[in-house]
Amino acid sequence: MSQQEQDNKKPEEKKPESSDNKEDEKKDTPINPLDAEEIKLIKRYGQGPYSGKIKETEDGLKKMVQEVNELCGVKESDTGLANPSLWDIQQDKATLQHEMPLQVARCTKIIDDDEEEPKYLINVRQIAKYVVGLGENVAPTDIEEGMRIGVDRTKYQIRIPLPPKIDASVTMMTVEEKPDITYNDIGGSKEQIDKIREVVETPLLHPEKFEGLGIDPPKGVLLYGPPGTGKTLLARAVANRTDATFIRVIGSELVQKYVGEGARMVRELFQMARQRKACIIFFDEVDAIGGTRFDDGAGGDNEVQRTMLEIVNQLDGFEARGNIKVLMATNRPDILDPALMRPGRLDRKIEFGLPDLEARTNIFRIHAKNMNVDKDIRYELLARLCPNATGAEIRSVCTEAGMFAIRARRKTVSEKDMLDAINKVIKGYQRFSATPTYQESQHIQ
Ligand SMILES: Nc1ncnc2c1ncn2[C@@H]1O[C@H](COP(=O)(O)OP(=O)(O)OP(=O)(O)O)[C@@H](O)[C@H]1O
Ligand SMILES: [Mg+2]
Repeated sequence: MSQQEQDNKKPEEKKPESSDNKEDEKKDTPINPLDAEEIKLIKRYGQGPYSGKIKETEDGLKKMVQEVNELCGVKESDTGLANPSLWDIQQDKATLQHEMPLQVARCTKIIDDDEEEPKYLINVRQIAKYVVGLGENVAPTDIEEGMRIGVDRTKYQIRIPLPPKIDASVTMMTVEEKPDITYNDIGGSKEQIDKIREVVETPLLHPEKFEGLGIDPPKGVLLYGPPGTGKTLLARAVANRTDATFIRVIGSELVQKYVGEGARMVRELFQMARQRKACIIFFDEVDAIGGTRFDDGAGGDNEVQRTMLEIVNQLDGFEARGNIKVLMATNRPDILDPALMRPGRLDRKIEFGLPDLEARTNIFRIHAKNMNVDKDIRYELLARLCPNATGAEIRSVCTEAGMFAIRARRKTVSEKDMLDAINKVIKGYQRFSATPTYQESQHIQ
């Protein structure tokens, strides 16, 4: 036997011995718990030699990024945006182009509206008609027949309901702020104020009174009288008093270049008014469109007449107990078309005459209130000195008196200034006054 063979054999012989010994030892010696060193070793089992260091470095990096973010002052939650270096503007543009703008269409009919998923017949202008369904964000109750809607361009699904089409120039006529005129700023005209309150304010503020009696309140009022007697002023005071939306239309605004435009504006005007809770429409200088119909041979005035007829139509169209009241003002009631003023349309006609003595005194007081005037001015005397003057003329007298005071470098207006102003305005401008013609025409009638 060589040396090598002996070496190989030895362990074979020893092995059983040693295992036997160990078993014996286990039985004898108590179990030793692992010490800290050994636990550490086991925990590191299977990990690479540098894993601990790598983790440390990673933590360090995180901390540093946080610090940098803090120093930059922008946190991700602030903007919701990713880092600018991550932006992909090209891609974003492509997605935006993919989301097409909606197309405006009109829903002409609802098919099977009792079923779960009704279908809608829509009309895209100048393209075609389609039968479509609803988009995700629209409920069946949102869509009504005849409504304008926004549809997408691929499946023509209804995406949003749109408000009715109303011309921008019509929307602009709504007076948003309340005028700062109150009934106290109107001198005299007590009777007129009472009448207009009865017709406009009461039906809007207390409709139950009319319902109780079973009568329909008048739909509209015509204010007429010579220029400068406070017709526009009173309409503005009414607007201030009620919380109604006030729409002011100047007659000439409704005269348009193209055929049918004026009538369309009137329709849109009333459509806009119907959407409001309460609304007063005031047609100022209505003689621009409300003239008596006639044939001039050339047909040039037909358009204006059509506009007026549309107003007549609309006046018939709304409920007397409804939320709309119509005021009209003119200083030529004689040329208005009789159809416009027949009972059932503009039932009430309120005349604005020239102010009497007491009213004139009042108007003087009202206009002098905001001026720096001497205390002892005899307003009644002033009022006596200008018979047949209108409110506008009296206002002009007050302004002119102020001018006299400025010319004389005085800080207050004296009675003499007022007298001079009356001489200048009332006597001097007499030939411009509309009063005599008005009085004449009154005489004839
Ligand atoms: N009764 C009045 N009380 C106080 N001020 C008045 C009165 N009437 C007229 N005025 C003054 O005259 C100005 C012009 O009045 P307003 O614009 O109401 O005239 P109008 O009757 O509408 O005339 P037009 O028919 O020419 O439109 C008013 O701004 C106001 O300052
Ligand atoms: Mg006016």
